[in-house]
Amino acid sequence: MDHDVNGAVRNSNPRIVVGISGASGVIYGVRVLDALKELGVESHLVVTRAALLTLSQETDLGPDDLTGRASVVHKLADVGATIASGSFRTLGMIVAPCSVKTMSEIATGVTSTLLTRAADVVLKERRPLVLMVRETPFHLGHLRTMTALAEMGATIAPPLPAFYSRPKSIDDMVDQSVGRALDAFGLDWSAVRRWEGLNGPAAAGAAA
Ligand SMILES: Cc1cc2nc3c(=O)[nH]c(=O)nc-3n(C[C@H](O)[C@H](O)[C@H](O)COP(=O)(O)O)c2cc1C
Repeated sequence: MDHDVNGAVRNSNPRIVVGISGASGVIYGVRVLDALKELGVESHLVVTRAALLTLSQETDLGPDDLTGRASVVHKLADVGATIASGSFRTLGMIVAPCSVKTMSEIATGVTSTLLTRAADVVLKERRPLVLMVRETPFHLGHLRTMTALAEMGATIAPPLPAFYSRPKSIDDMVDQSVGRALDAFGLDWSAVRRWEGLNGPAAAGAAA
C-alpha cells in the first residue's frame, strides 16, 4: 500500500505491461501472461496485428485465448490508455516475443502504437524494460539497435534455451526463458530451474 500527501491509502497493485509482437515465438507471450497470473501480478496486455498472425500460425489458440489470460487488455491504437502515461505506476514492461520492427521503433522513440509508446514511457521512467528479441541471424543494424537500447537501460533477453536445466520438452525451454526474463522484475516464478552448483540436483541429473 502507498499513501498520498494527505495520508490516504493509494492502490499499489503490482502491475507489468506485456507487449506481444509478431516475431516467431508467440508462446513466450502466452506463458508470460500465465506466469504473471500465477505470481499475482496484474498484467496489462497490448498485442500487435502481426502477433495475431503468428498466434494463428504457431498455436491452436485464438485471440480470446490470449486476451483471456490478461488482467487488462489495451487496444493497439489507444494511445490514451493508462499505460501510455508514466504517472500510471507499473513495475515495468516485457515484450515477448519482440520483433525487429518493434525493437527498432522503441529504439528510435518514434512510437506509432500503444505498445511502443508504453515501452518508451517505461524507459523514460527508468523502469525495467525487457525485450525478448527474436530473429536470427542478426545483421549489424540489429546489433547496433540492441546496443542503443542497452545503453538506454533496456534488458535485451533473446529467448535462447539453456541446457543446464535439462529441459525435457519445448514447454520446459519456453518456461525457463520466460522465468529468467521475469527475474528482471524481481519475480521468482516456480517454473524456473535454478543452477545450484556442480553438486546440485541439476548436476546430479546430468551425471545420471
Ligand atoms: C510466421 C511469422 C514469423 C515471423 N518471425 C519473425 C521473427 O522471428 N522476428 C522478426 O523480427 N519478425 C518476424 N516476422 C515478421 C514480423 O511479423 C513483421 O516484421 C511485422 O511487421 C512485425 O510487426 P510488429 O512488430 O508490429 O508485430 C514473422 C512473421 C511471420 C508471419
